[in-house]
Amino acid sequence: MKDISAKIQQLKKEKKAIILAHNYQRPEVQEIADYIGDSIELSRKAMQEQDAEIIVFSAVDFMAQSAAILNPTKKVLLPTLGARCPMAQMLTVDEIKRAKKLHPNAPVVVYVNTLAEAKAESDICCTSANAVEVVNSLDADTILFGPDRNLAEYTAEKTGKKIIPLPEWGFCPTHLLFQPEDVTIIKQQHPDAVVMVHPECSAEMRKTADFIGSTSKMCKYAKESTAKTFIVGTEDGILYRLRKENPDKKFIIAYDGAVCPNMKLTTLDRIYVSLKEEKYEVKVPKAVAEKARVALERMFQVKS
Ligand code: 13P
Ligand code: SF4
Repeated sequence: MKDISAKIQQLKKEKKAIILAHNYQRPEVQEIADYIGDSIELSRKAMQEQDAEIIVFSAVDFMAQSAAILNPTKKVLLPTLGARCPMAQMLTVDEIKRAKKLHPNAPVVVYVNTLAEAKAESDICCTSANAVEVVNSLDADTILFGPDRNLAEYTAEKTGKKIIPLPEWGFCPTHLLFQPEDVTIIKQQHPDAVVMVHPECSAEMRKTADFIGSTSKMCKYAKESTAKTFIVGTEDGILYRLRKENPDKKFIIAYDGAVCPNMKLTTLDRIYVSLKEEKYEVKVPKAVAEKARVALERMFQVKS
């Protein structure tokens, strides 16, 4: 492991590359990353990156695409072609066009977990960290929102606006695995535990939560909280960071099968090959990228 990490560090230097990794990445990948974060933090970092010539994006397709859209002069590499977020495939351009015809006055908000073509067809993007603020920033009471139905419902609860989900039942297969019963059982053994849940979880699961937020917001919450034990309702990769940053606190995942297979496709070996052979370069057609960039930049203008 040390050997491959050292080789990656060497290649990084030679090629002026940086590695950005999502909070769900494998521990060893988090260890060699220059920056770890949630979707919005990683997009911001990619946009602000001045010095690197290559950005290796250890995450899934839509996050690397956003980096390529926001930083068109850099080479953005996705180490594993198969690292695709299934939820991002759930919202098609046709679906958005159909909905726009039915609701011509409703702005279209797309979660960053979408492909570039869907972003290009939208008015503004959001992440799980700022969906409420993005929707509140719009001068409309009815909003078209996709693809995550749970995030759409959570945002509707928080904003009081009418949110029409696109498609009707978009979901994250990993967050769907969490059940409130699991929290009840863990709570019997750890009655003082604080429950943190990602908004991609079901409404029943969100009802168990003391805190709902993006992956990095959970990290911040755990650091600042005086609680000693936390039940975590999101993908298991985050536990590594939570435990590393809070060695005196206890973190229990609400369901230990909640592993995103797509996020776990990125390994150190694959990062090494990716850097060495400079593959797989993420390319977004210029016309699509320009429109998608507008939607992403509008999101950055919203204070959250
Ligand atoms: P975050 O933006 O909260 O990191 O979430 C991304 C994601 O894919 C959640 O499943
Ligand atoms: Fe996509 Fe869910 Fe994996 Fe996040 S956890 S990348 S939403 S499949």
